[in-house]
Amino acid sequence: MNDGRDFRGRARSGGRVDRHRFPPENAALPFSERTAMQRVFSGIQPTGIPTLGNYLGAVRNWVKLQEDHDCIYCVVDLHAITMTHDPKTLAQATREMAAALIAAGIDPTRSTLFHQSAVSAHLRLAWIFECVVRLGWLNRMTQFKDKAGKDRENFSAGLYTYPALMAADILAYHATRVPVGDDQRQHLELANDIAQKFNFDFCAGETFFPLIEPLILGPAARVMSLRDGTKKMSKSDPSDQSRINLTDDADTIALKIRRAKTDPEPLPSDTAGLEGRPEARNLIGIYAALTDTDHASVLREHGGRGFGDYKKILADLLVAKLEPIAEEMRRLLGDAATIDAILRDGAGRAEAIAEPIVREAEKRVGFLRV
Ligand code: TYM
Repeated sequence: MNDGRDFRGRARSGGRVDRHRFPPENAALPFSERTAMQRVFSGIQPTGIPTLGNYLGAVRNWVKLQEDHDCIYCVVDLHAITMTHDPKTLAQATREMAAALIAAGIDPTRSTLFHQSAVSAHLRLAWIFECVVRLGWLNRMTQFKDKAGKDRENFSAGLYTYPALMAADILAYHATRVPVGDDQRQHLELANDIAQKFNFDFCAGETFFPLIEPLILGPAARVMSLRDGTKKMSKSDPSDQSRINLTDDADTIALKIRRAKTDPEPLPSDTAGLEGRPEARNLIGIYAALTDTDHASVLREHGGRGFGDYKKILADLLVAKLEPIAEEMRRLLGDAATIDAILRDGAGRAEAIAEPIVREAEKRVGFLRV
């Protein structure tokens, strides 16, 4: 790779190596600026209404990254079928997730927003990665163990190889920064192992697939269940009381926060006092994320308050932040054709970036080209 050309044989500008330069030909925006930026990729499964955990742990950071990154955001419907799903509702759930992302601040003219099954490059690269990843590596994935539990023989092979598809999602774009909640950390470490093994096996050690930097940001990288401070808040938890959905109305939010599990002590005035109090830590972390501060400054402001008092303040803040999102989401869903057009356009842009990268990966693996 030192002949002044990139791996597709295109001349490199000024002889400078820039692996992130894949101008999306048909993009709507000032992509001339964008190509110099680091590329971000992240995804969310359309397996339910997004929760406060998805919002604070991931989506809110996605919105901020749009300022100075080339962002690609994907509704991962291929991942959504790794668990039993209802084929009658998947398409609408995908559309609803796209609407939620736009309502939360993803700007489809700045970022590429699309759904995974529309870009086949993901699947082609995922297959290659399934042949690169070692069974031993997959066996270590805690999320598979958590989901499948003792009944692993009855879960799909797709759930088992899920992290290979996730690595393909990211690396098909040569993305280098991946904003996620804390629960995805292990999958991103595996993606880096896959990238390195591919580079070693098929590229003579050259960095064809770049290393990924996980962006696990802010005081709410792991929002916990409102019913159990040791369990992650999840869209698929059977108890609706365990989570705040982005579509919950003001009364529902207030009620869920009022009923949230807490302990009898008032709030401590410093972070050391959160030790062994997971529910208190969770409610403080949520407030900190919503106000762009940290646990310590929330405790400086509210330390000494009882939970009754604090929960009212927190519920008001949540309503103020989430209601406009829910309202915008409802408005967007009134015009499904526009959402579909946004996703179609996004898929075209995504494909233009992924296709040459995945073709090159296929060439490196040695597939016949006729
Ligand atoms: P998913 O759909 O479970 O969640 C989407 C994002 O929300 C984050 N998240 C949370 N953050 C904080 N607290 C919580 N309680 C919480 N619950 C969820 C997740 O960490 C995630 O960032 N495997 C991914 C989707 C995916 C992906 C990718 C992500 C597929 N391909 C490539 C990044 C890059 C998932 O199941 O997300």
